[in-house]
Formats: sequence, C-alpha cells, structure tokens
Amino acid sequence: MNAAGKMLIGLHLGNGYGSQSGAWRMPGVDSESYTSFDIRVKQAQAAERGKFQFIFLPDGPGAIMTDIETESPVFNLDVMMTLAAVARETQYIGLVATGSTTFNEPFNLARQFKALDIMSHGRAGWNAITSSGEDVAANYGKRIPSSQDRYGRAHEAVQLIQSLWGSWGKDAWIHDQKSGQFAKKDQILPINLQGKYVGSRGPLYIPPSEQGQPIIFHAGGSPNAHQLAGRFANVVIGAAFTIEDARAQRNAFRAAAKSYGRDPDEIKYIAGLMTTIAKDRRTALDRRIQLGGSSLMQKFDYLQKMLGISLDPSLINEPLSEVQLETARLSRYDPRSSNALKIARQGWSVLDILAHGVIDYHPVVAGPGVEAADHMQAWYEAGAADGFWISPDVNSDGIDAFVDQVVPLLQERGLFHKEYESKTLRGHLGVPDQYGIDHRVV
Ligand SMILES: Cc1cc2nc3c(=O)[nH]c(=O)nc-3n(C[C@H](O)[C@H](O)[C@H](O)COP(=O)(O)O)c2cc1C
Repeated sequence: MNAAGKMLIGLHLGNGYGSQSGAWRMPGVDSESYTSFDIRVKQAQAAERGKFQFIFLPDGPGAIMTDIETESPVFNLDVMMTLAAVARETQYIGLVATGSTTFNEPFNLARQFKALDIMSHGRAGWNAITSSGEDVAANYGKRIPSSQDRYGRAHEAVQLIQSLWGSWGKDAWIHDQKSGQFAKKDQILPINLQGKYVGSRGPLYIPPSEQGQPIIFHAGGSPNAHQLAGRFANVVIGAAFTIEDARAQRNAFRAAAKSYGRDPDEIKYIAGLMTTIAKDRRTALDRRIQLGGSSLMQKFDYLQKMLGISLDPSLINEPLSEVQLETARLSRYDPRSSNALKIARQGWSVLDILAHGVIDYHPVVAGPGVEAADHMQAWYEAGAADGFWISPDVNSDGIDAFVDQVVPLLQERGLFHKEYESKTLRGHLGVPDQYGIDHRVV
C-alpha cells in the first residue's frame, strides 16, 4: 500500500506493443511502435492519466525469446533512453528500469540512475537484479556466475551505488553567484570502497534529487533474492499465480526486511496481472484468440500435461467431456493447473480455455473491468500484494481501457488514490527518506 493505505499500480512497458506477442499486428496498432519513443511517451502519459505510481521497464538484455520472423522482441531498445524521453513529457509517474548488477559496472549504474532521478525531479527507480540467463551473459562474452557470486556482487554493488549517491553531501551545493562559492568541497568526498567483487573511489558528482536518490526495486523469488531485497529494496516486482503463493512471497520479503532491522512496511510486494479488458468475457476471449493466432495452438500440448488428460485437436471448439473433467489430474509442477481446470469446469471450449491465458506468465483477467477490479481487491485484501503491475495485452488501447474501466471502480471502492499525493516516486510509495546507504543494514 501507499502512504494513504491504498494499493499501488504500475504499468509494464516492454516493447511498446503489449504483453501478447501478436500485439504488433492488431488493428489500430502502429507496426513501427518498436522504435517509436513518441509512442512509449504516449503510453506512459496514459498511465499517468490513470494515476499509476510507476512504469516498469524490464531488461535483459539477452536473446529476444520470440521468433523474430513473425513476432516482435519482448524488450525495449534501451530502457534508460526511453525513461529519459518519458521523464521530459510526464510530471508525476515513477520511472523504473531493470539494471543488472552482474553485467554493469556499479559506477555507471549509479551515474545513469541518479542523472535520471535529477532529470525527472525525483521519480527514478532501479530494479536491481542479478541476471540469470546465459543469453544475457553471452552478450557480454561471459557465462552466468554461480548464484553465490551473482548475489555476492549484487550486495556489494547496491551498497557501493548508494554510497556514491550519498557522496555528494545533501547540503553541499551552494551555487551562490554573489559569494562565488559553488559547493562545499568538504561535503563531496570519495567513498574509497573496494569489495571482493566491485569497487569505486568516487565521489559521484551529482547532487540530491527531490527524493534524495533513486528507489531500489528487486525482482526474483529465490532465498538469495529475499535476502537482497530484504536488505535494500523498497519494492519487489513479483510473479505469483495464486493468492496463497503471493502472500507467502510477500511474507518472505517482509520477514527478510525485518531480519535486517527494517520495518516490514518499507518493502512493497507488487504482484503481476495481465489484462484484456472488453465489454464482456466473450469479446475479450475473441480478442485474445485474434491476438494469439497460431501460438495459442502451440500451447495445446502443454494444456494436456497441466490437466493430465489427452485432448483431441479436432475438438478444439468443444468443451471437455464429463469423463475428461472427472479424470483430470492436476500437474504438481505447475501452479496454474488448478485455474485451468476451474475454467474447464465452467464449460468453455478448449480454445477458449487457452484464450483465458491459463498458460501465461501472470494471472490473466479477460473480461469487463469489474473482473479486474474484483481480482485486485481480493488479492489486496487477502494480504497477498501491496499493489499490481499491469501488463495490458495491447498497449495502444489496453492501457486506456484499464484507466477508464478499472481505475474508477478501484477509486469508488476506496482502494486506489484519486490524485497523486506527491511528485516523487518515494512519496507515491510512502517509503522513508534515505540518502546514501541505510546504516541499519550495513
Ligand atoms: C517479476 C519478475 C521480473 C523480472 N524481471 C527481470 C528483468 O527485467 N531482467 C532480468 O534479467 N531478470 C528479471 N527477472 C529474473 C530475476 O532477476 C531472477 O534472475 C530470476 O528470478 C532467477 O532468480 P535467481 O537469480 O535468484 O536464481 C525477473 C523475475 C521476476 C520474478
């Protein structure tokens, strides 16, 4: 929740088209959105109109994970350049991007994110992750280090970066033209940190922003991730398919924060949600069938595994038979299986079951705005999330659909704010002031 005790909402801004790989071909979508910074700016402005607290730009940069012959890449041309463009054309919304602690020099990260924080007047957030894909490592001519080394470096990198952020004293900048004093030299000092993995002399010649320094985010689910986030992060970008799983994750991060002497409310757990908002369920499913194209059928085999039954591809437009529903055995390995069976039991055809997004990366709401509002309310009130990051199916109209059809319901229910309470990301999140390192955790 935010400072006013209400839920937080972020927008996932990946490739400019939307979260479904077919989004680039949908009617009304500019097929050149991939390279259009103007379109990214417009999308961020739509989220700001909906009073979202932040936009989130994931980043590898690794392999594109899609078949570029027919599908758009998932990621962004360059997350920092995109956020710089957005910063100039928005006023309130927080600007968050992933930056790998494994494949970047901490000094570069410190400098880029703090410069963005200055440019945006205190709206920057850094999603500090360690990278886990060999495809990312390959772009740097490396192999993925062990988890111990990745997280060892990450702990050092965050400390070093926050030290650099604090190395320009809070009140050091005088810039008094009359007296001729530009800055207090004795308050801008080297950090001289050298760890096992990273080091820097400093200082970083950037004064504080309106929020002091950028907010630390983290995304990951391993015990190492809990420790890193519990120590440094104010926000966790999460992925969970059930209320129970989300609540367990949220509690694990809160417990880790507590173990470092922090107040658990200083760390916000943000669950993922993918949306197809339409006037009714049928319209939403038809849109997703159009979007999914042949890739929906590629998930057919996997659906059989999730339900433990064999399905006849020629009966794709038929619901499951009584016998199939009775003999279904949920996969123990996939937490999405129970939702797939729930949808199947409602009598939807096999194609419609797939169109519900039962094999997507996050829970999917395909239907009228009220269904998304109900989902968010249920999770929020169950203590499963402090907020949500929304991945619309198609950005060009999906962001507006959420803003116009879901946000007002959440506001009427008293679950989401009606106006920004502040102009900084720190203020939106309701997290404590911090400048430099947090002495409680080092
Ligand atoms: C919701 C979510 C978002 C993530 N975003 C990114 C990202 O933008 N870039 C990236 O390289 N990894 C991303 N990751 C991967 C994690 O940083 C992490 O490497 C992965 O979960 C493996 O965990 P481990 O490294 O602790 O073993 C994300 C993970 C989750 C759950």
